[in-house]
Amino acid sequence: MSETLENLLQETRTFPPPPEFASRANGTEDLYAKAEADHEGFWAEQARKYVSWSKDFTHTLDWDAPFAKWFADGELNACYNAVDRHVEAGNGDRVAIHWVGEPEGDTRDITYSDLHAAVQRAANALQDLGVRKGDTVAIYLPMIPEAAIAMLACARIGAPHSVVFGGFSAEALHSRIDDAGAKVVITSDGGYRRGSASPLKPAVDAALDHGDTSVEKVLVVKRTGQDTPWTEGRDVWWHEALEAADATHEAPAHEAEHPLFILYTSGTTGKPKGIFHTTGGYLTQSAYTNAVVHDVHPESDVYWCTADIGWVTGHSYIVYGPLTLGATQVMYEGTPDTPHQGRFWEIVEQKKVTILYTAPTAIRTFMKWGEDIPGKFDMSSLRLLGSVGEPINPEAWMWYRRVIGGDRCPIVDTWWQTETGAIMISPLPGVTETKPGSAQRAIPGIGAEVVDDNAQPVPNGHGGYLVLTKPWPAMLRGIWGDPERYKETYWSRFEGLYFAGDGAKKDNDGDIWLLGRVDDVMNVSGHRLSTTEIESALVSHPKVAEAAVVGATDETTGQAVVAFVILRSEAVAEADEAGEGADIVAELRGHVAKEIGPIAKPRSIMIVPELPKTRSGKIMRRLLRDVAENRQVGDVTTLADSSVMELIKTGLSKGT
Ligand code: WTA
Repeated sequence: MSETLENLLQETRTFPPPPEFASRANGTEDLYAKAEADHEGFWAEQARKYVSWSKDFTHTLDWDAPFAKWFADGELNACYNAVDRHVEAGNGDRVAIHWVGEPEGDTRDITYSDLHAAVQRAANALQDLGVRKGDTVAIYLPMIPEAAIAMLACARIGAPHSVVFGGFSAEALHSRIDDAGAKVVITSDGGYRRGSASPLKPAVDAALDHGDTSVEKVLVVKRTGQDTPWTEGRDVWWHEALEAADATHEAPAHEAEHPLFILYTSGTTGKPKGIFHTTGGYLTQSAYTNAVVHDVHPESDVYWCTADIGWVTGHSYIVYGPLTLGATQVMYEGTPDTPHQGRFWEIVEQKKVTILYTAPTAIRTFMKWGEDIPGKFDMSSLRLLGSVGEPINPEAWMWYRRVIGGDRCPIVDTWWQTETGAIMISPLPGVTETKPGSAQRAIPGIGAEVVDDNAQPVPNGHGGYLVLTKPWPAMLRGIWGDPERYKETYWSRFEGLYFAGDGAKKDNDGDIWLLGRVDDVMNVSGHRLSTTEIESALVSHPKVAEAAVVGATDETTGQAVVAFVILRSEAVAEADEAGEGADIVAELRGHVAKEIGPIAKPRSIMIVPELPKTRSGKIMRRLLRDVAENRQVGDVTTLADSSVMELIKTGLSKGT
């Protein structure tokens, strides 16, 4: 970490907001002072400004640390906010979603009126299938409009959704369905990925194959038309259910603290955490941040967030934020290099995108492909760029600004988490003088600090742990079914402060620079993966005795998964006999993909005779990281057996 600190301290470039941008920006300087003077009053004002309430709240915050209730006696409907009210206001003809399928020419423009018709029928269809307020619904879909429609229909009837990323395996889907007790799963026959139709529904079948399941019905969207296995009595086509359903559905009012969704994310243990969010506070902060940070002007912008709906970024900044504001946005189904590496920029040109929100890993990939590719397209419509998911290194930031933003667009580097629900630390594009690589400071209404081991704020120029100092409206309300784990994970490290799990430093101006995770969570291409979760997947393979996983620095993906594996002695003997070392590695990589999903597949697996452990038996990942990153191995004095590292290195150089 100290090397990173040194590099970042040398970064001195700054970019003031263009005056014209500043003159019409939603996020203004005075918001900071207002929020500082009256934290609750500030949020009450945002709640009434950005959200329509069926019943106004009289009370802003109940804070029984660490449990918060925001706007608790208020009532609202999130789907009404995202859809109906825009139609009522006369904006039904405005395009809500310019959907772009991966196959070229496969596009759909969906207006707010279209969305209104769809969510009403979908809400009725879910009710016809027996879904009631409080029941959970799992959504496992590709990036098609039905994903947003399904989420909104759930919100409409008060059924918390649990979206599972389409890249997760049947095993991962199974444990998430099980944990949330989902009554219905919404999926599709398949989706388009890298030029071909790939099936999705078979993973649902496999997930439900475990027998005992809470799932009663599977609703299947026809996307690709490929042959799909069918379970009579359980499976229902989405289009048939919607056609059969009533066309009108009145959005009922739900309590502000009614659960809106559960979203699973990796933590430091093997079991993913079901982070749950409620309605009023979450909607307020996602809409507010989309307005003041992304500077969305619904009447004139074309906004595009490239995240997948399976991650929190897709929840807050494809579905709830922009639709609550009534914005027009692009939603893209496929990968950035299908059918060619200029696909993103072609979409920007065709749809005249004005605001682009993407991840550093994508930016670094585009850098690698070369700037002549975006150079072929007219991207003069762009006026703001955003980054999210991991620290953005200054060179990638500068490239993004120059090549994509034509040196004229401000960049907002936004720090937040699944748990925070919405953006917490970011420049305001019309106010902040930006610095390449820094998320800078807490946005108005949010309190963030960098502290040392004793919870004391560090002086400028020093590093420590990122904490959040005040409750915020979109904060997680807990871990589904496990309030103790919520307290322990986030609130036990420092008294009264939310521990984010990220390292950070303050520069000489007091601006915050994020330095990556300080726990056993890795960040690979902006996706959170837990070392322990991958280790348990490896150990569940019959040939593996023990495994240790580390995140090694990777130029493109930020970090890469590197695994050290001790095989069971029978497996070693067998492999030696057959000369099968490489086969075992391939087999184990495949096994991790099956257990968790292809995103968790280790970049490399090293078969080792021993693992470095402390006397208390804790694996010293720091030393393994040294090996994975080809560095001189650090201090080994706390190892139970200091010869282990020699053994590992000799073993590796022999190529076992
Ligand atoms: C990291 C994604 C540096 C961080 C919204 C955090 C970032 C984790 C940034 C949350 C950023 C996210 N700069 N690091 N701008 N944004 N992170 O839950 O480590 O998928 O704790 O939420 O991503 O990942 P999650």
